Amino acid sequence: YRNPKGRSPPSPLQWSELRGTSPRRRSFQLSSLFFMKNFSVFGYARTKLTDEELRNMIGQTLTCRIDKRENCEDKMEQFLKRCFYHSGQYNSEENFRELDVKLKEKEAGKLANRLFYLSIPPNIFVDVVRCASLGASSASGWTRVIVEKPFGRDSESSGQLTRCLMQYLAEDQIFRIDHYLGKELVENLSVLRFSNLVFEPLWSRNYIRNVQLIFSEDFGTDGRGGYFDNYGIIRDIMQNHLLQILALFAMETPVSLDAEDIRNEKVKVLRSMRPLRLEDVVVGQYKGHVKGGRSYPGYTDDPTVPKNSITPTFAAAALFINNARWDGVPFLMKAGKALYTKRAEIRVQFRHVPGNLYKRNFGTDLDKATNELVLRVQPDEAIYLKINNKVPGLEMRLDRSDLNLLYRARYPREIPDAYERLLLDAIEGERRLFIRSDELDAAWALFTPLLKDLEGKRIAPELYPYGSRGPVGAHYLAAKHNVRWGDIGTEE
Ligand code: BG6
Repeated sequence: YRNPKGRSPPSPLQWSELRGTSPRRRSFQLSSLFFMKNFSVFGYARTKLTDEELRNMIGQTLTCRIDKRENCEDKMEQFLKRCFYHSGQYNSEENFRELDVKLKEKEAGKLANRLFYLSIPPNIFVDVVRCASLGASSASGWTRVIVEKPFGRDSESSGQLTRCLMQYLAEDQIFRIDHYLGKELVENLSVLRFSNLVFEPLWSRNYIRNVQLIFSEDFGTDGRGGYFDNYGIIRDIMQNHLLQILALFAMETPVSLDAEDIRNEKVKVLRSMRPLRLEDVVVGQYKGHVKGGRSYPGYTDDPTVPKNSITPTFAAAALFINNARWDGVPFLMKAGKALYTKRAEIRVQFRHVPGNLYKRNFGTDLDKATNELVLRVQPDEAIYLKINNKVPGLEMRLDRSDLNLLYRARYPREIPDAYERLLLDAIEGERRLFIRSDELDAAWALFTPLLKDLEGKRIAPELYPYGSRGPVGAHYLAAKHNVRWGDIGTEE
């Protein structure tokens, strides 16, 4: 529905205005123009459903972004007519062959590509990939598979999963999603760095004191305790979402914007990092709390979580990159559920101004005077830089102000959802925002020794009340590296 039927093809001038800058991006827009005419969506699961029942189910949550001239109901109707359902077992090649027959009917002998999106538990990934690739691969076009974490629980299980998938698929058929890479501000990170002269020269240990990657949610595991207890916050958020952002943030300039060039640089960063040790982390778990007459459940109150669970729902960690650019700069991560706010951001704290002429205007706390660049990934996307400024008036009084790029003010249009971008990229074969297997190995190599230690030694998490700012241990960890968390005690 991005390129509605009936709209005439764009003129060359319009092409230059289309999303993205690379020719590949532009060609995507062209192909998506035609995409609308020839596609179908098939649901496949064990439950018995009719096409109509599937359509009703989808219809309950379907939304539509349209041009003013169009009618949303028509658009949704057209979309739903292209949705079908086939019921089958996950390990039955025969059932997938039945699906193949139905797909061929829709494809009507035309060149056809197939994209499988595996929205299933990881223990059946391999069965489904085997059956789909043997029984329902496209005979005339490409076949691709989107998989989503968890990609194993550690280096060994992840390597095993990759080897099993590779029995049936080539690496370029596998699209490993990390949906944080599809978020607008994360995609913008490279634009900010590499297309503005003012940032890149500062992007090193010479000017940056520390970098903070913060993820917090103001709700607990709510119904996902069964999954979560097997993984914990380190595997759920840090090893993938936050680490991916870190790699993009810290990588060297890639040779080009090509997927392989970018992913080569990301792997180099990950491989230059020191694997985490117990003393580099603090773990926590939320406990029940009563606030304003309302009671909030603790993590172990979830009936799907064992009462004696020590799975962390919060973790803070200090990571280091042993290369010339970042030697000695702490990259602090913090991720937690059931905290006081829902937010994801990257904070860059710069060094103090040497011999600052205005030192006395800041009292004894020079940290308050340092510049800080914040990329707020969500909610309310923004990029802002904290600077020192003279308060207008006759006296010399300084305060901290923000140079603020608030997306909702500057770009009032709707920001696409991360999955929307990633699904379109997978269709187009754009791999830049998907994880390559060597990246995944390098990511697991950093966290596996730590996870083994935490679990082997049964390190008890520090309890924190639901809705709080998390364990105080996170502050001690930061202080050990001369860091103060930027999201605490600021004027925001
Ligand atoms: C998922 C995690 O990958 O990301 C969830 O498994 C988490 O635990 C979610 O809630 C957060 O995604 P978003 O896009 O809502 O920030």
